[in-house]
Amino acid sequence: MNDFTFYSPTRFVFGRGAVDRVGRELAADGRRRALIVYGRGSVARTGTLQRVRSSLAAAGIEAAELGGVRPNPEIGSVRQGVRIAREMRSDIILALGGGSAIDAAKAIALATPYEGDAWDFFAKRAQPAAPLPVAVVLTIPASGSEASNSSVVSNDAEHLKSGINTDLIRPVCAIMDPELTFTLPPYQTAAGVCDMICHVMERFFSGEPAVTVTDGIGCSLIRSAIQMGPRVMADPLDYDARANLMWISTLAHNGLAGLGMGVAGKRDGDWSAHALEHELSALDTSITHGAGLAVIFPAWMRHVWSAHPERFLTFGKEIFDIEPVEENPLAAKDAIECSIDELQNFFVSLGMPRTLAELGLVEDDIELLLPGLLANRGERFGTFMSLTLDDARSIYLSAL
Ligand code: NZQ
Ligand code: ZN
Repeated sequence: MNDFTFYSPTRFVFGRGAVDRVGRELAADGRRRALIVYGRGSVARTGTLQRVRSSLAAAGIEAAELGGVRPNPEIGSVRQGVRIAREMRSDIILALGGGSAIDAAKAIALATPYEGDAWDFFAKRAQPAAPLPVAVVLTIPASGSEASNSSVVSNDAEHLKSGINTDLIRPVCAIMDPELTFTLPPYQTAAGVCDMICHVMERFFSGEPAVTVTDGIGCSLIRSAIQMGPRVMADPLDYDARANLMWISTLAHNGLAGLGMGVAGKRDGDWSAHALEHELSALDTSITHGAGLAVIFPAWMRHVWSAHPERFLTFGKEIFDIEPVEENPLAAKDAIECSIDELQNFFVSLGMPRTLAELGLVEDDIELLLPGLLANRGERFGTFMSLTLDDARSIYLSAL
C-alpha cells in the first residue's frame, strides 16, 4: 500500500429539501456576498434557482449571478465571472449545477485574486494561490466535482480542454438534494452513471499493486452504480436510487477510491481514458463527457489489459462474477474480454453510444485529436501502461 495524504474538507449537506438550507450553511461560515454560477437554464426551469435566491436572501447574503455556462465550460464564462466577483467583492463562489457550473466556479475562484488571465492556470503558467472558497448546490451526479480537486475548462480559441488539480479548489460545502435530479434527461442521467464508474476504474487500473480496502470501496461503488442506473432509467422519481447515485458520484471522485494506489506527488490513477475523452469534447463541444467515456474506456481497456491481466481478472470477478473456466492464459483472455464486453453492454443498455461514429466522428477527425492530447499529457502518458500518441491513435481508431 503506497503512502498518501487525503484531504477532503467538504461539508456535505445531504437529503430532501437540503437546497433550502444553502443560505444558512453559507451564513454559518460567515459568508456575506455570493456569486451564483449556473448553466443554460435548467435551474431556472426547475425552480432551483429561485429557491437558492430565497434561501440566500433569508440568510442576509447578497447575491450576483453568472448564468449561461455551457456544458464543457468555456474560459470566456470564467473571465466574465471573475469581473463580477471582483466588482461585488464576492466572498464565496456558489455553483448551482453539475461539473460544468462547478468547474467554472472553481476557475473563477482561482482567478479572482490573480492579476493575470484565468487561462494561465490551465496552461500551467500560474501556480494556484489563495482562491476564493467554492460551495456547490449539486443538480447532476456525474463529475464528482462537488468534492474533487479538479477543474476542467475549454478554450475554444486554442482548441483545448485542460484541467488543473489542486486541493485548494475542493469545495468547502456541497448541498446534495437528490430530488433536484428528478428532472434530469435520461441521456444526462446515463452519462453521469458512466462517468462515476469511470472515475473509480481510472483508479482501480492505476497499475499499482492492489489495496484490499480500497478495492473493496471501489468495487462496491461500481456495483452500486450498476444496480442503481437501470432503476433511475426506469423510474426517474425513484428517490432511493437517485440518492445512492448522488453519493456514489461523490465517493467515486473525492479521492477515497484510489487511496494507497497512487504514486506520491502524482495523479491517483491512470487517467488516460479521461485524457482521450477530453480531446473528443474539445473537438466537438456538444459531446457529453460521460457519453465519450462510454466509448473510450472499453476501447482503452482492450488496448492495455495485457499489461496487468491480474487486475482485469479481479475486476471481472468482483463486478460481473466472471472467472476463467480453466487456469490457462487463453481462458483468462476470454474472461477478460467477456468482462469488458459486459461493461460496454451495460453502458449501451443505458442509452450510451458504442462507437465514436455514433458521436459524429469520422476517421479524418482522429488526427485532430492528437495535438491537444500532446499539449495536455505530453509524448507519453498513463501509468497502467505507458502510452504514446500512436497508441492513442490506435485506441481512437478501434473505437470508430
Ligand atoms: O446547462 P443546464 O441548462 O443547467 O443543463 C445541464 C446540462 O445541459 C443539464 N442539467 C444539469 N442538472 C439538471 C439538468 N437538466 C435538468 N435537470 C437537472 N437537475 O445537464 C447537462 C450537463 O450538465 P454538466 O454540468 O455539463 O454535467 P456534468 O456534471 O456531467 O459535468 C461535465 C463537465 O465536468 C467535467 C467534464 O469534462 C465536463 O466538462 N469533469 C469535471 C471533473 C472534475 N472537476 O472533477 C471530473 C470529470 O471527469 C469531468 O472531466
Ligand atoms: Zn469524468
